[in-house]
Amino acid sequence: MSGSDGAGVALVSGANRGIGREVVRQLAERGYEVLLGARDGQRAAEAAAELSQGSSLKIRPLVLDVSDPASIAAAREQIGGDPGSLDVLVNNAGIGLDFGVSGLEPDFGVMAETLQTNFYGAYRTTLAMLDLLRASSHPRIVNVSSGMGGISEMGGWSPGYRVSKAAMNAMTRILSAELAGHGFLVNSACPGFVASDMGAPMGATKSLEDGASGIVWLATLPDDGPTGGFFRDGQPVAF
Ligand SMILES: NC(=O)c1ccc[n+]([C@@H]2O[C@H](COP(=O)([O-])OP(=O)(O)OC[C@H]3O[C@@H](n4cnc5c(N)ncnc54)[C@H](OP(=O)(O)O)[C@@H]3O)[C@@H](O)[C@H]2O)c1
Repeated sequence: MSGSDGAGVALVSGANRGIGREVVRQLAERGYEVLLGARDGQRAAEAAAELSQGSSLKIRPLVLDVSDPASIAAAREQIGGDPGSLDVLVNNAGIGLDFGVSGLEPDFGVMAETLQTNFYGAYRTTLAMLDLLRASSHPRIVNVSSGMGGISEMGGWSPGYRVSKAAMNAMTRILSAELAGHGFLVNSACPGFVASDMGAPMGATKSLEDGASGIVWLATLPDDGPTGGFFRDGQPVAF
């Protein structure tokens, strides 16, 4: 814990709606000061105001477009100035642009765009925030992945989305190995098939609350918790 008299400071990317917004709410309920990241400043401000309205929850908007290295650098500078510390990073921002598209006919432009946000965006954000996290006594990184990125049970279709999440899972393994022994716990989470703007059109029924809770569990692990793993609802899933 650092920088706050509560549970610590957390940053959630892509948090103006969907699962990320609910992760913000649950972390704030647990006493974290939460930076609600969104690529659109007005949407960030509106979501932070809605969530904290009539409560004492500490939720602050933060402009963060993870596909834009300059935006990541600006967010890092802002956090470094105030609140000046970071204990939890949830790489939640994500896009799915090729659900149902055949892997035999991929659109490589779409694949590159998806990787830019889901993989490079999460990786660059993590590296930019690393010195702030190193200063925490209990740094936690949660990469919001998907069962669709699991290699061992991977099927066909949606090639860009699948590859982006498989790459994110590789990042989890690489960083967890290199940060081992420094107090970091770095894990991938699959929220399940959640009825957000992304999942609902495909028939998802899992609530935002239930989808977020497994992510929050990983963000708030005790020091003897797992690292380098892949979990859904608190249970291990195959990489
Ligand atoms: N829903 C599911 O069933 C499901 C299953 C497995 C994994 N996931 C993963 O869970 C995460 C959250 O998904 P969701 O279901 O909540 O999706 P969603 O409702 O579509 O929300 C996605 C969020 O990511 C933000 N975002 C997209 N590109 C961004 C960028 N470049 N920089 C910053 N923010 C960006 C969006 O912001 P805007 O409002 O500006 O677009 C939005 O806030 C994603 O990583 C997704 O892949 C979801």
